[in-house]
Amino acid sequence: KTAAIVGCPFSGGQRRKGVDTGPISLVSAGICEQLESLGWKVEFDGHHSFDHINDKIATDTDIGNMKLPRTVSAVTQEVAATVESHAKQGKLPLTLGGDHSLALGTVTGTLRAHPDAALIWIDAHADINTPDTTESGNLHGCPVSFLLGLEGTDVEPFNSWVPKKPLLRPESLVYIGLRDIDAGERRILKQHNIKAYSMHHVDKYGIGRVVEMALDHVNGAPGKRDRPVHLSFDVDALDPSVAPSTGTPVRGGLTFREGHYICEALYETGCLVALDLMEVNPSLLEDREAQQTIAVGCSLIRSAMGETLL
Ligand code: ARG
Ligand code: MN
Ligand code: MN
Ligand code: MN
Repeated sequence: KTAAIVGCPFSGGQRRKGVDTGPISLVSAGICEQLESLGWKVEFDGHHSFDHINDKIATDTDIGNMKLPRTVSAVTQEVAATVESHAKQGKLPLTLGGDHSLALGTVTGTLRAHPDAALIWIDAHADINTPDTTESGNLHGCPVSFLLGLEGTDVEPFNSWVPKKPLLRPESLVYIGLRDIDAGERRILKQHNIKAYSMHHVDKYGIGRVVEMALDHVNGAPGKRDRPVHLSFDVDALDPSVAPSTGTPVRGGLTFREGHYICEALYETGCLVALDLMEVNPSLLEDREAQQTIAVGCSLIRSAMGETLL
């Protein structure tokens, strides 16, 4: 078993500085060595350089509501190709963000290699705004709408490479951890009947049942779970007391154990084919909070890749 680390120092999907240093911190903290001690062969040949794209950032004017559309489109297109190639070689791509707009690339890459893959999105936010519904214009709030090919996503420059016939179907997607949904997003989730477990459901059923129900939805009946799974984990799904250094923290999130339980349970299915850990921003708050957030990020990754308590 081989893991390919895709380090993505990119922050153009939102407006707070520093989230581009997240992947560098996670690697410096030793994530590669930690995975090796879990028995993985780890490939990491340096972080992806987006300099040639970021160089043109000053000329990237808004298109409609979208901020930095050309930058985000070019970056995610490259990330898609990288993840696709690793996945097609049978490696598990582990993408370290960077902001969550990157997941337009990672999930596209996974679906090119595994067309029947399900997407499990762990987040305080649904990130399903369209270019029309986004209130912030920040594309890290929009990747899922592009993956689903929702109305309003057939826009330049994304339509130069995002397929018209979407790779992801609404019934192949499930959310856990939601608690900050925009009005337009709520309409979209309803309209497309997208399965979402909010923090209310986590409180009501407990994380064990929530994960079980989420898997029942996207991954077949218990006992015969056989669909490949892409896990996209936004660290802001965790409560800010657990993972404080992130750009859009929302109180009332997952506990340390609930976050880890999700990762452990997905590892146990044996179906995980790709993993993202996004939105770690070590430059926010004090060093103590940054170190805490980086450590939690590494620990979530280890849990999703086989670390057990016993
Ligand atoms: N819904 C808000 C927006 O669209 C917040 C999105 C936050 N996304 C994230 N990946 N942290 O701007
Ligand atoms: Mn989020
Ligand atoms: Mn909001
Ligand atoms: Mn997110």
